Amino acid sequence: MILTVTLNASVDKLYLVDRMEPGTVMRVKRVVNTAGGKGLNVSRVASAAGEQVLATGFIGGFAGEYIRAMLARDGIQARFVQTDGETRSCVNVADLSTGKHTEFLEPGAQVSAAKQEEFLEDYRTLLPGCSVAVLSGSLPGGVAPDFYGRLIALAKEQGKKVILDTSGEALKRGIAFHPDLIKPNADEIRQLVRLPDGSTESLARAASQLYRSGIGTVVVSLGKKGSLAAGKEGVFLSDTPYVEVVNTVGCGDSMVAGFAVGFSRGYSFAETLRFGVAASAANAATLATGSVRPEDLKRLRPLVNIRRLGDS
Ligand SMILES: Nc1ncnc2c1ncn2[C@@H]1O[C@H](COP(=O)(O)OP(=O)(O)OP(=O)(O)O)[C@@H](O)[C@H]1O
Ligand SMILES: [Mg+2]
Repeated sequence: MILTVTLNASVDKLYLVDRMEPGTVMRVKRVVNTAGGKGLNVSRVASAAGEQVLATGFIGGFAGEYIRAMLARDGIQARFVQTDGETRSCVNVADLSTGKHTEFLEPGAQVSAAKQEEFLEDYRTLLPGCSVAVLSGSLPGGVAPDFYGRLIALAKEQGKKVILDTSGEALKRGIAFHPDLIKPNADEIRQLVRLPDGSTESLARAASQLYRSGIGTVVVSLGKKGSLAAGKEGVFLSDTPYVEVVNTVGCGDSMVAGFAVGFSRGYSFAETLRFGVAASAANAATLATGSVRPEDLKRLRPLVNIRRLGDS
């Protein structure tokens, strides 16, 4: 079982418009609503890959009920702490004329100290039934930046693998607790390590440096250019298999889901990387954010090329 933590859940709304023109009225051609927040993207992809998933975090109000219903429909178990505030919505406008996406992310309601304590109590009791905990996304208002650190420490105390995928201060504080895997993108790694330039060599050095600081595996995702991974077996470069791209939002979350599945099934380092890359590319081939077709996963897995660059 994979436990996913989504502290800042949202109803994600993908709007398809013919042309994005600020300052005008735009008719939406099609709407796709999904249970969002990065952890719920991870949940759907891991579930589509065939794993049992238990989703936890905070949700509230009518939007929270809508999220529960969407998760139930997708066969994902939910054990959320109910908050007093309404769960947020995030809007992703896709301009069909350019293929560009513009995202509007609401900040999310504040979470009280009492609700945070309730969550910590639940989290401790949910861990024993799971092999991997995945901590994804931003922190809602009222939650201290070291919160993920506490969740990592609790998971490690129980001998569970833990993946952290967040940004900024939450990531900075979280890595001090040595998660088993982090997956910053190019912007996020720049928030952690000063880079002389954007070259593959500099990014590989940065990933190695973070690995040596005590993180199990550091994967830096580079969009369609692929990804770098630094772990105990060395530094590796993976390309992305070709897919007909429809929507790349959530590719990183899908990659994290693939890694969580690899951990949960006890895959080797190389197989885990391969599965993560295949899941990330499979997401790019579907319209809904954080969704993969099992047949794409199967087809793409053997097409992933992984090259060893050197020692970490
Ligand atoms: N156009 C694409 N075609 C195939 N694979 C892609 C494409 N874009 C991204 N990917 C895959 O997805 C991985 C993660 O992408 P990216 O670096 O954009 O993550 P991210 O910024 O964390 O995304 P998000 O936070 O929206 O989930 C890449 O390393 C690559 O394997
Ligand atoms: Mg990401």
